[in-house]
Amino acid sequence: MCGIIGIKSCVDISTKIIEKLKILEYRGYDSAGVSYLKDKLYCKKSVGKVDKLAKKIDCHFDIGIAHTRWATHGKPTLHNCHPFLSSDKNVAIVHNGIISNYIQIKNELSNKNVVFDSETDSEVIAKLFDNKTLTIDSIRKVCQKLNGSYAIVGLTATGILFGAKKGSPLYFAQNKDEFLIASDIACFEDADSFFTLQDGEYVIVDKKVQFFDDEKIIEKISTQLDFDKYKYAKTHENFMIQEILQTPTLVKRYLLNQQKLNINKYKNVYLFGCGSAYHCAKIGEHYLRQLNKNCKAIVASEIGEEKCDFDNALCIFLSQSGETIDTLNALSLCKGKATTVALINNEFSTLARECDIIVPINAQKEFSVASTKAVTMMIVAMLCWIKEQSYNDYKKVFNINENVLKELANKLYNNESLFFVGKGIDHIINCEGALKVKEIAYINANAYLSGELKHGPLALIDEKAYVIVSCSQKRFVDKTKSTICEIKARGGKIVLFTPFLSLIEALDNEDYSVLLPNITSELVPISALYSYQLLSYYICKNRGLNPDFPRNLAKSVTVE
Ligand code: F6R
Repeated sequence: MCGIIGIKSCVDISTKIIEKLKILEYRGYDSAGVSYLKDKLYCKKSVGKVDKLAKKIDCHFDIGIAHTRWATHGKPTLHNCHPFLSSDKNVAIVHNGIISNYIQIKNELSNKNVVFDSETDSEVIAKLFDNKTLTIDSIRKVCQKLNGSYAIVGLTATGILFGAKKGSPLYFAQNKDEFLIASDIACFEDADSFFTLQDGEYVIVDKKVQFFDDEKIIEKISTQLDFDKYKYAKTHENFMIQEILQTPTLVKRYLLNQQKLNINKYKNVYLFGCGSAYHCAKIGEHYLRQLNKNCKAIVASEIGEEKCDFDNALCIFLSQSGETIDTLNALSLCKGKATTVALINNEFSTLARECDIIVPINAQKEFSVASTKAVTMMIVAMLCWIKEQSYNDYKKVFNINENVLKELANKLYNNESLFFVGKGIDHIINCEGALKVKEIAYINANAYLSGELKHGPLALIDEKAYVIVSCSQKRFVDKTKSTICEIKARGGKIVLFTPFLSLIEALDNEDYSVLLPNITSELVPISALYSYQLLSYYICKNRGLNPDFPRNLAKSVTVE
């Protein structure tokens, strides 16, 4: 969370740095700030999105650093905005991560009469810079005092740009006479050479560019990047709808180049993920049990509560960003004990670097905070491990009548709560549907197992309730009929997602239905998922909200 960038150039970058900061906005959008060098270091800050900051920039500059914030320590107020300045105002820094010992450092510095202007953990980094001249040793000295995680970009009043990394992502790129340090590859579209900084590495851009580790100067080799994969181009009103609608093409492309994984040869298989990626892990568990009975999905942050048997084990880590700290923590507990696999959308992520095997889902960059195409692609990738998938089978998966979903959204958007009910795999897809509605439309949506309704949740159903019931499997049809009766007897209205006409025909006029395509039973859940993504998008739009930037969230969750 939080996006940071620094640019050193010989031409004006005042517009460019703001454009690049906008690319990073998906990492947090509570406030934004920039520091640049003219006769001295200046800071401009604003609460809210980068557009507001852009209005405050009224001069040209050729070197600067900038930050877009997802608040952790201290509210999203002006005084908590980055960048922060050292006490002598000779160094400005922006930070992504969490400094876990900041209170101790703050107390030590306060005792030496250092004055703090913010409640953030990050400000201590700036205030630790107390040398007149900046050298690699003074940067190392500051970093050695920090516990926790950080990606830092700094700028000095003498025109030195520098970066330091531990835990949070940081990349460096050069384009002719321009140098960039940033949290995301997406900022480097026009770069000639590109470098990934590893934990404990530093880059200093002064008269020349130099890389260091904790002891010495190091040589780094530039990586070739296919920037098309990371390109930032908005072709629709919002990224979310653009990304949902990209899914069929991505699936088609992926199926031409399916990556196998031999699940059978392992005694135990564990799948780890957070949020939507955990739902994918649950779906993976459901499908992969066809090959290996000892398959279990675990919420990454709960690994400490689970007893994993690492004997001949395969641990699969699912993550769109590859930077989710809870997933990385789970990985660190499995590393060396089991074979590790990263099922990811970011091949340059920490997860990709740290796992034994990488399975890229090739979903291209996902900007919208709510994950959609990446979720679907993770499921498709896992289905390829069970058996070769044929595009013929997928042709109808995305044949959903969008107008029906738009009309439905019109009916549902004013509700304060929404129920999702289903069995087995449908329940898992419902959990994901409910999460999407919650996160972008702020409706209290919850998924319940149909068999569990009568053990409690039915008390919530009355004439005002809309209940999304899904039935993707033929063997669930009879049970679903009973579920529908139970709900209707309490006055609830049904919104049915199913490919089975017999179920739809049994509904009343006041109920609604979305006909899912008549395809193989293992693929119907993907159609339901796709429909839920579209439905949540239209509900969100009806409520007048921006689906790309839901409140309180950020795309890359790099804090515990
Ligand atoms: C929901 C969503 C989050 C992420 C979760 C894990 O739409 O996007 O729940 O799925 O934060 O993120 P990654 O996949 O980057 O590890």
